Amino acid sequence: MVDKIKNENRRTASRTIAQERALADTSAGGFEKLLADLSSVFVRASVDEIDDEIEHWLERIVLAMGVDRSTVVQSDPQDGQLYITHQWAREGVSALPRSRTAPPRQFSWLVDKVYSGEVLVISRVDDLPPEASTVREAFRLIGNKSNLTVPLRVGGLVVGALLFGAIVSEKHWSEQDVQRLKLVAEILGNALERKRAEAEIRRPLEELRQSSQVMALGELTASLAHELNQPLGAILNNAKAVRRLLTAASPDLSEINEALEDIIRDDARAVDIVKNVRAMFMRGEVKMSTVDVQELLLDVARIVGADARTKRISCSTELPDSPALVRGNQTHLTQAVLNLVMNAFDSVCDSEGPRKVTLLAARDKGDEIRVSVRDSGKGIDPAAMPRLFEPFFTTKPSGMGMGLTIVRSIVENHGGRIWATPNSDCGATLQFTLPVDPASTQSG
Ligand SMILES: Nc1ncnc2c1ncn2[C@@H]1O[C@H](COP(=O)(O)OP(=O)(O)OP(=O)(O)O)[C@@H](O)[C@H]1O
Ligand SMILES: [Mg+2]
Repeated sequence: MVDKIKNENRRTASRTIAQERALADTSAGGFEKLLADLSSVFVRASVDEIDDEIEHWLERIVLAMGVDRSTVVQSDPQDGQLYITHQWAREGVSALPRSRTAPPRQFSWLVDKVYSGEVLVISRVDDLPPEASTVREAFRLIGNKSNLTVPLRVGGLVVGALLFGAIVSEKHWSEQDVQRLKLVAEILGNALERKRAEAEIRRPLEELRQSSQVMALGELTASLAHELNQPLGAILNNAKAVRRLLTAASPDLSEINEALEDIIRDDARAVDIVKNVRAMFMRGEVKMSTVDVQELLLDVARIVGADARTKRISCSTELPDSPALVRGNQTHLTQAVLNLVMNAFDSVCDSEGPRKVTLLAARDKGDEIRVSVRDSGKGIDPAAMPRLFEPFFTTKPSGMGMGLTIVRSIVENHGGRIWATPNSDCGATLQFTLPVDPASTQSG
């Protein structure tokens, strides 16, 4: 959308006549100097300064040309209508209405001329041709005795116009005036082109930022780092195990083979994670399929098995008798449960009590599957409860605070909900629901 005029308080001139005369130096050298200044200012102006500079320079040009009012109108890319975006008028000369209303219909002849790229030189409003009678009336209403309209072009396309009006007395536009103001329009057009180009570049970024599904780039990077930590750590552990096994007098080849299989599997998982995290957060194509939640929990239990043994955690599963099928992305859902299990492991290791973590799946009332991760850890600090799912919220010295943010994002992208509850004895349960795969409901 075209910007509205920023400053509702119109700038007015409050100069002495002598000062105005000095400014109105239209001698060749005077105006050429002004054009050179104008050009160098707009080349250097940052995009954020362009609007203010345009209004400032309209003032200087109006005074230099000895006219009374100048207006910039631009077409709104959304509705194609022309709106006033910048204006300057001498003291005592009324400004044109600034409301965001399209130009009145009386101006349609003028608007057509602008879009056809014509420069309209009107030294006397009365000289307007009969077909422009409505424009003549409209000019009289707004007090214009003479008018000059130069189309503003951006990349060859007319996107608006620069208008000069003489209100106090008629102004005869010389050929030189027209040439000079065409140059002014060219310089302003270039500046506006820069502004529009930047807006075009910003738009997709804005859309990206506004989209609730898409995380900020920092969060995306943090998510990747977070999710890769686990498989990379597992790969390192298995590689160390292989090295240790190889130092034995008679190496246990089947154990070495198992560790290598794990390395290959974890490496494939890491590759998958990179692909999928990127796809999810950048709104790419996420592969959906029917996922059996039971198998998924067993897979997670397998992935964390070695870690659980090292940390002396008893990690078990409680699964329903019948398959629990949901529609989703296998990698994402595995990551979600894995993040919950990692938190549960951290919590049980941080407490003096028993180290027990249970992965549960159950069919809830309605068409939902509930996945829970219950631990016997230190429990969740009630003060932390409302912030658990916030990005970068952590109570751990080396935590990133991304685990639960990622889980929530995954669960919500699958049409589910997630919440945390303290257990009645000790520890906490993190659980989420997922809608049952519609295909499995139909067939069963
Ligand atoms: N099972 C749990 N028991 C107790 N507190 C928990 C549990 N799960 C999460 N929390 C709390 O929620 C916070 C946020 O968890 P989250 O997984 O998002 O980040 P983190 O584990 O601190 O760091 P990381 O990004 O490395 O996972 C934790 O710091 C912890 O205070
Ligand atoms: Mg975590």
